[in-house]
Amino acid sequence: MRDLTSDTITEAVISTMRDTKDSRLAKILESLVRHLHSFVSDVALTEEEWAQGVDFLTRTGQMCTPTRQEFILLSDVLGVTMLVDALSNRRPAETTQNSVLGPYFREDRPQHDDAADISGGLPGTPLFFEGRVVNRAGAPVADAAVDVWHSDADGHYDMEVPGQVDPAMRALFRTDETGHFGFRSIRPSSYPIPGDGPVGEFMSATGRSLMRPAHVHLLIEAPGFQRVTTMLFPSDDQYLDTDPVFGVKESLVESYDTYAADAGPCRGLTDVPYTLLRHTFILEPRPAD
Ligand code: BEZ
Ligand code: FE
Repeated sequence: MRDLTSDTITEAVISTMRDTKDSRLAKILESLVRHLHSFVSDVALTEEEWAQGVDFLTRTGQMCTPTRQEFILLSDVLGVTMLVDALSNRRPAETTQNSVLGPYFREDRPQHDDAADISGGLPGTPLFFEGRVVNRAGAPVADAAVDVWHSDADGHYDMEVPGQVDPAMRALFRTDETGHFGFRSIRPSSYPIPGDGPVGEFMSATGRSLMRPAHVHLLIEAPGFQRVTTMLFPSDDQYLDTDPVFGVKESLVESYDTYAADAGPCRGLTDVPYTLLRHTFILEPRPAD
């Protein structure tokens, strides 16, 4: 292996990995080297651009902490997170589709009974959520674990709200024998993904918006069914078609119906206008191992 040229270096590098025992790893690494070399040749990457790329990736790693994962954010804005999800979770179109998990899920969330108020007393338009979990035949899925989390009216999650120490706008519920779960909270708002790191530089250099459409996150798990990591977006949100993390699917766009305090299914439960969000989640059985 001497005197390698731009025409011979790719095969030379690949040949050094021929003793890789794990066949899947061997396949991934060969493809990675081929695509990487092909990309470098395709754009005729200069030494200065190579150094800029190394600096960008270095700073992306340096930005990571236990609560800030800049590499996952980079994967999100490059569409890699949703591509991996699409390849890993092919489900019939009539079942509930996945979206991104995002960085704001917390393991230390409280478990609540049906109809609990999870707003933590934070200000905002009251939101009533009525959910149902069923299988593809429409039969209820009882005792499913349903995690919900969302932002406040300013687009902040609980850990970002000044002075908010206890978990709020997040909880774990269990469906009843009819597959129902429900809660009261406040209506979430659209918000920007973190823009103060290398991903923010990338978004600004490419003229992209940081704003995610408003949403309520849900993570649903039930024995024998595929896990669903999803979210519901309001149909009137202005950012639906420019989501920076490519998480919007038509089937996840819902009408967030707004009623006067003395009207609609939840009349009398508030003395201000409220929003009612209803959705049926359809689970797909887990393939047999
Ligand atoms: C979120 O919806 O919480 C989110 C998803 C991806 C990146 C940043 C935030
Ligand atoms: Fe979110």
